[in-house]
Amino acid sequence: MSTPSQPQFILGIESSCDETSAAVIQGRTVLSNVIANQLLIHRKYGGVVPELASRAHQQKIVPVVEEALTLANITKNQLSGVAFTRGPGLMGALLVGVSFAKSFALALGIPLLEVNHMQGHVLAHFLKKPGEHKAVPSFPFLCLTVSGGHTQIVRVDDPLEMRVIGETQDDAAGEAFDKAAKLLGLPYPGGPLIDQHAAKGDPDSFKFPHPRIPGLDYSFSGLKTAFLYFLRDQEKHHPSFKQERLDDICASLQKSIVTILLEKLVLASRETGIRDIAIAGGVSANSGLRKALQFTGEREGWQVFIPPFEYCTDNAAMIACGGSFLFEAGRFTGLETAPLARMPF
Ligand code: KG4
Ligand code: ZN
Repeated sequence: MSTPSQPQFILGIESSCDETSAAVIQGRTVLSNVIANQLLIHRKYGGVVPELASRAHQQKIVPVVEEALTLANITKNQLSGVAFTRGPGLMGALLVGVSFAKSFALALGIPLLEVNHMQGHVLAHFLKKPGEHKAVPSFPFLCLTVSGGHTQIVRVDDPLEMRVIGETQDDAAGEAFDKAAKLLGLPYPGGPLIDQHAAKGDPDSFKFPHPRIPGLDYSFSGLKTAFLYFLRDQEKHHPSFKQERLDDICASLQKSIVTILLEKLVLASRETGIRDIAIAGGVSANSGLRKALQFTGEREGWQVFIPPFEYCTDNAAMIACGGSFLFEAGRFTGLETAPLARMPF
């Protein structure tokens, strides 16, 4: 066990979708963050197959945890707590991580710490690498949390006190990227590929409609439909349109999604008067969004926080980070806990 003056070692477990991940942190310092992704298993189906995801988690969870402990250079007996993703996510996938975390904590006689996956994405901003000193957001701050299943503007008053002040009414931003990529014939998950093609294209080549949703909420389903009709119409006159203009199409679509995302974030900042602004979740890896956020931040007088790439997409370090705040607050979870496919903040 670490002495009281030393920060505790927390193990994090993430299994909500198609990444089996385990991490060890000490305080907020990441000692290891092992991620086994299942890309090759799901790619041929064009999306995540829940049953296959659960089986792959079951196969990978033990070796991934062992590797995380080895890389952190500690034994399991030095751990002070086990943090896990309780939800939201795929039920079968979550069950693997939750069951593992419960048995591990029970066997070691240490506290169990349940973390909301989306809150984990937000809290990734407090992680540091060994020896790193970096600025972290001051409370309250706003975090645009954009992933494959969620698009939310979160007001963060404290690590354990946050609420959603705006969110998508239909598709998530990541879903918009992935569905558009599918229409373009790109493999799943298409978000990163659209990003790569966009870097070579002209973002002003094509215009897509802007949703009219009041307040701080989002909508991406109209854009998806418009994109489908746009491709269909263009291909009528020009059958190889997609292939020939791929870079320009990707750049224009990415510009539309990023513009929609930032417009509401600006509104949220102006309405709340909060100027510490962060982004999190898989889509925060998007280079167009990262650049546009810097640019908008300078114009609006924001202090901007962009996570390193490895903490944007799903990882267990962010779950361990959430667990470390819960551990410090003494907010432990009972062994009767069960996963939640939908888990509100
Ligand atoms: O947070 P995440 O890893 O998993 C969920 O919790 O959903 O987010 C995955 C999403 C996918 O939709 C993926 O296409 C998107 O993040 N994504 C990106 C990029 N990298 C990941 N979208 C656009 N550009 C990227 N560079
Ligand atoms: Zn996620």
